[in-house]
Amino acid sequence: MAKYRLDINLSDNTTNPVEFTVPTARGNYQLDLPLSNGTKITAGAITVDSNINTYRLTLKLSNGQSIDCGTFSTEAIRAIMAYLLAGNFKMNQTKADISGYLDAMQSIGFIPSKTETIICPQTCLIAPYKDAITKAGSALSFLKLGAQLCSPATRGAYTGQNSVEALASVGAEYVIVGHSEVRVLFGDMTSNYAEQMQQAISKGCKVLFCVGETLEERNAGLSQQIISQQLTEGLMKENAGISAADIEQYVSIVYEPVWAIGTGVTATERQVQEVLQYIQGWLVEHYSQTTMERVKLLYGGSVNMNNYVAIISLPECDGFLAGGISLKPIDFIEIAKGMDNN
Ligand code: PGA
Repeated sequence: MAKYRLDINLSDNTTNPVEFTVPTARGNYQLDLPLSNGTKITAGAITVDSNINTYRLTLKLSNGQSIDCGTFSTEAIRAIMAYLLAGNFKMNQTKADISGYLDAMQSIGFIPSKTETIICPQTCLIAPYKDAITKAGSALSFLKLGAQLCSPATRGAYTGQNSVEALASVGAEYVIVGHSEVRVLFGDMTSNYAEQMQQAISKGCKVLFCVGETLEERNAGLSQQIISQQLTEGLMKENAGISAADIEQYVSIVYEPVWAIGTGVTATERQVQEVLQYIQGWLVEHYSQTTMERVKLLYGGSVNMNNYVAIISLPECDGFLAGGISLKPIDFIEIAKGMDNN
């Protein structure tokens, strides 16, 4: 769930920061305030309308006065969290690496304000990462956690798998679905991506859904056909299709050309743009223009310090799923900083 921050200017010329997590279900929520010293705002509530499209914020001041900040839309929230940067640690690190990683990240002293920043460590490291991030307090509270894989089932006799419920219970707010390494390593699960996404969505967990072609497929002119198949398989499956409302709220689509993953070869800006435009067209055709505008499209594959600026500058690109570079905390947070300032 995205953190939202408003700076409220009161008539006595004080600026009062209010931070809150954007709820993803309708209802009335009390805000966890005050969050910073000196604020005159003592309490607040947020109401989410029945379509989950509009939020109304009301605040109470220390002098007893109430202010109604009016309504704002999910688009306004999306505009603030304009970009998404996710790090896929793959099968790297142990518990002993966590403090060094977070200390290095913290040493830069940068807090992204429009780039949702996520790390996806191995499943068994999500809980210790969550603890360490919580202990670090406000300096790292922006950092979200994701899982690299989840089970398509809810719970039961599935030895070795992790349910979304369990992943979410230890702090995962995102899950990667359909990563090409998983497609290859667990080939027998290829028909389950829709179910994995359904599991994630039903638990309020966001999805980074990966699609991409191999070099042979690209050379054979099959890129679009493969990507279309993968999108159809993940999003449009009979009896497990993802609704427009759910894809808009929970799913980001990542173009990860298999030939660019972990190889040091990056797709050119033109190649990325062509495929992202193709995905946009697919979303318009199978959902709508509005859905296309709301779903974030990311790129992944040998993202590094030298190529990210050109790719994030593409109007179609909303962020990255980064592998190797995400293991270097300083470079990773520098990319978030560069995106934030883009
Ligand atoms: P890479 O990995 O950045 O090391 O190429 C990307 C990914 O697998 O998501």
